[in-house]
Parts: sequence; C-alpha cells; structure tokens
Amino acid sequence: MGRRVAVSRHEHFNAAHRLNNPDWDEERNQAVFGKCNLPHYHGHNYEIIVRVTGEIDPGSGYVMDMKILSDLVKDHVVERFDHRNLNEDVPEFRTLNPSAENIVVVIHDILRPLIDPVLDLKITLYETPRNFVEYPA
Ligand code: NI
Repeated sequence: MGRRVAVSRHEHFNAAHRLNNPDWDEERNQAVFGKCNLPHYHGHNYEIIVRVTGEIDPGSGYVMDMKILSDLVKDHVVERFDHRNLNEDVPEFRTLNPSAENIVVVIHDILRPLIDPVLDLKITLYETPRNFVEYPA
C-alpha cells in the first residue's frame, strides 16, 4: 500500500454575482444578503484550491499528474467562470443562488466525474481573503 498524500492545485477567477431569493421581498433579501443583494451585481476575486488525496503510484511517484489536474481546473472551471456574471452566464446558477457555498458544491460536482474515483476530492473556495468555504465539509 502506498502512502496517502494530498496534492493541491491553486487557481483563480474573477466573477460577478448577486445573491437574491425571488421568493422573498426586498426587505428580507437586503436583511439576509446585505451588499451582496445590490441589484447591479458586484465582483469577487475567487481563489480555488482543488485537493486530490490518494496513494502514491509506485511507478510514477505521483498521486495525480498535476499538469492534468491543472488543465482540468482551467478548462472546466476557470474558463467557464472567469470574468462571467455567475447568475446570468453560468447555467448552474440560473436558479441557484451563487453563494460561496453553492459555488463550491457546483465546482466539486463539475470536477468529480473527471477525476479517478479512487482519489478523494476536496474543494476550497475563497470569496474574500478572509472568507472561505470547503466541500466536502
Ligand atoms: Ni458577494
């Protein structure tokens, strides 16, 4: 049995969003979401850390080829999210509030089928330098 090691790739995207629940009135939306409810959207510099955990392959010495991991994140997440309005441009958020919590789950679900199922996958998403979310928890 190889040693289990976590390998991570850090990527970045800028995106706009607005948090709003159409089932709530304006007052409740503002109370819950504050500035994130402003009608004309606002941006965040999102940082994403994709962590893959598994046994070291004795042949390559790798858990996963980092070039492949980096390309997967760039092609399937950064390309789709960077410089976009998440609410308007990313179909997953048409009816799903693009909170950091929902974004991290969407990113996980995009990448999970693209990575060997024997490897564990964890996504960390920074919405601000001080606020970050992780999935799976
Ligand atoms: Ni926001």
